[in-house]
Amino acid sequence: MQQVVHDPDAIRALVVAARAAGRRVGFVPTMGALHAGHASLVARAVSDCDDVVVSIFVNPTQFGPQEDFTRYPRTLAADLKLLEPQGVRWIYAPEVAAVYPPGDATQVVVGGPSLRFEGERRPGHFDGVATVVCKLFLTVPAHAAYFGAKDWQQTLVVKRMVSDLGLPIEVIVCPTMRESDGLAMSSRNAYLSSAERPRAVALVESLRQAAEHWSAGSGVDAIERTMRETLSAHGVVVDYAAIADPESLEPLADDAVRGVALVAGRLGSTRLIDNLLLPVRVTSPRGTVL
Ligand code: PAF
Repeated sequence: MQQVVHDPDAIRALVVAARAAGRRVGFVPTMGALHAGHASLVARAVSDCDDVVVSIFVNPTQFGPQEDFTRYPRTLAADLKLLEPQGVRWIYAPEVAAVYPPGDATQVVVGGPSLRFEGERRPGHFDGVATVVCKLFLTVPAHAAYFGAKDWQQTLVVKRMVSDLGLPIEVIVCPTMRESDGLAMSSRNAYLSSAERPRAVALVESLRQAAEHWSAGSGVDAIERTMRETLSAHGVVVDYAAIADPESLEPLADDAVRGVALVAGRLGSTRLIDNLLLPVRVTSPRGTVL
């Protein structure tokens, strides 16, 4: 049976005891408002591990002053119901003061993969993510943590931090879960009006087009232009539509063979992001086989 734990010392003691008993512990950090995307991370963790911890914490430090921290959905009862049949051992749901005690003055700042895209558009966002994930990893000393590829840049930032700080946890990235029309599952999809919802499919359409043009050997500029056109045609206000190196997120040379396509845009007041890892390509922009 799943147990809800609010106290950081209590969850740490439970995880330490499980590890001491030889059990493999998996950890799925979330901000709640759980959906099938989260359920797939939990299912993977449950299949890999003996005990699984899911954290539910809407982290204030990763929201900018104009962002949706106050309106972010908080649905603990529904979240617990979704997790109930999944075989989760502990749900860690701390209060803000337990994570950020009075006088808290420590931040984890990751450079490298955090600098472009979300890092540029949401100043301080990845400092908040890295700080809370670091705190969570110290409180829930699991063997492995599970993150969704939907937040590709976040997975790179977390991996960079784990590697740079030598944190003893394995980061496992799981595939993006999509609705039947391809829209990536996200807690923020709930904000979309019935008129906006069908238009949101433009994000994945632009990514799939990018993959086709990439495989056909198109150049970076042409691919990015097509992505922007597709988004705009559906009324999405484009934040960025780009292809980049999948590990560093640095700009790509025209003859690069690996890439990731990333998009962010707004429909009304809802900001959505998505990405697609591009197939390793064998045709260069000039049509020669590499
Ligand atoms: O991806 C999320 O839900 C959050 O960014 C995370 C990793 C739980 C940190 O608050």
